Amino acid sequence: MTNERKTLEQAVRERRSTPSFDGEAIPAADLRQILDAGLRAPSGYNMQPWRFIVVQHPEQRRRIRAASYNQAKVEEASAIVVACGDRDGWRRDLEEMLRMGRAGGMPESYAAQAAANVPGYLSGFSDDQMKGWLNKQVTIATTTMLWMAEVMGYDTAILEGFEQQRICETLRLPMSYWVVSLLAIGHLKGADKFDGGRFDTSHTLFGEEFGKPLKLG
Ligand SMILES: Cc1cc2nc3c(=O)[nH]c(=O)nc-3n(C[C@H](O)[C@H](O)[C@H](O)COP(=O)(O)O)c2cc1C
Repeated sequence: MTNERKTLEQAVRERRSTPSFDGEAIPAADLRQILDAGLRAPSGYNMQPWRFIVVQHPEQRRRIRAASYNQAKVEEASAIVVACGDRDGWRRDLEEMLRMGRAGGMPESYAAQAAANVPGYLSGFSDDQMKGWLNKQVTIATTTMLWMAEVMGYDTAILEGFEQQRICETLRLPMSYWVVSLLAIGHLKGADKFDGGRFDTSHTLFGEEFGKPLKLG
């Protein structure tokens, strides 16, 4: 199947959370492009605490479905990207982050500050704070994958309906991993989801301070 490419504008306008997928495999080069896009996302201090488990094997997709309240789309999708954060990643990755940064022109003053600030900031986190931090970082990368897949003509669905412990066990994740979401990628089968609509902007957009309507132009 040749995918119809979309502009980002078109993808943003047309995207729906895909209700059902046809299961046709994604070419490896396309999947690579989608994943690479996510790995280029920004992250706090460039710590990249995300870890992605890509599940394509039908048997493993079936297991993930069982751990996701039996949501059929999880098994039907061509690939499920299980988006995780590593609570301990920064402990091991700080040095490499600094090495890469220096290779890319990071000033020594910035490196010294990051070397002190990253442990100072993250080591004081409670588990809940760490999960909040990971949710933020990992979601930016996952959403970047979502949009890359959409502009490449794939259909997507992001899911939070899964059992944390069961996903961890199914994928044999290290204890320090926290599962943030599942990103299902493939091709829509049947009718697309209804358009749920969006709240009036008076409810969600403000200008300059809370409660003031945003005036554009
Ligand atoms: C973080 C997140 C988790 C979601 N989890 C699920 C899910 O587990 N199952 C599901 O069917 N849809 C899930 N959705 C899809 C939402 O229901 C959907 O985005 C919303 O109804 C708006 O519809 P639209 O995405 O088609 O615009 C999730 C969406 C987000 C952003």
